[in-house]
Amino acid sequence: MVEAPIGVFDSGVGGLSVLEEIHRLLPNESLLYVADCGHVPYGEKSPEFIRERCRVMAQFFQQQGAKAFVLACNTATVAGVADLRRDYPDWPIVGMEPAVKPAAAATRNGVVGVLATTGTLKSAKFAALLDRFATDVQVVTQPCPGLVELIEAGDLHSPAVRQLLQGYLDPLLAAGCDTIILGCTHYPFLKPLLRQMLGDDISLIDTGAAVARQLQRLLAERQLLAAGPARPAQFWTSASPEHMRNILPLLWNKSGIVRSFGL
Ligand code: DGL
Repeated sequence: MVEAPIGVFDSGVGGLSVLEEIHRLLPNESLLYVADCGHVPYGEKSPEFIRERCRVMAQFFQQQGAKAFVLACNTATVAGVADLRRDYPDWPIVGMEPAVKPAAAATRNGVVGVLATTGTLKSAKFAALLDRFATDVQVVTQPCPGLVELIEAGDLHSPAVRQLLQGYLDPLLAAGCDTIILGCTHYPFLKPLLRQMLGDDISLIDTGAAVARQLQRLLAERQLLAAGPARPAQFWTSASPEHMRNILPLLWNKSGIVRSFGL
């Protein structure tokens, strides 16, 4: 059980930004990753559809004997984590949400921007997060349709991605945000481009490292931390394994086996 793998899932390759943080903090853990690329983007899909996909992933990781389940996707978390915790009360499940609390603590001028998917920003869970942690700051939210598709294609720098991103950053810059939350796990892959576009004065905050720490806490509480050595990471995709093999080196520079996910 201690040496059992950890299951990590996202609508696509975005969750690899979280996988990286998990691997950095917990190098002895064996990792399984499912990219639901056949259904990406989740951002514009209904909560019912996403909940069903979360159920499919949970069943798959249970069959693989995973000792913990990480929803490396903000959009899937707001739609599905409550049902999963109800259905699997004894299984350590880690979800993620935009880093409103740390951003509210970090902002110097009290203006915070949030880049996330439409599904995340429209959710009751996000509204509750703002009510709880953002009462003393101004929060400017910006959905980013189209961005995930470009990142899925492995495009992190082209003029097309820069132009789309500029349109999403403009309202945040006009409002004077000094802190921007990357509220979708795909967006940390755009950090080098964002730095070029924004300079160094605007803080960028994402939650990958915090998710890894939460996973570590849950495993430690249950005495489930692996002694290692870890087995190579295994990847599944519900779209083309060939495409995933091609872009994996860009997003995960370690070895790993990629298979087709047919569920
Ligand atoms: N990576 C996902 C998130 O964190 C969702 C992207 C999408 O499929 O729209 O929200």
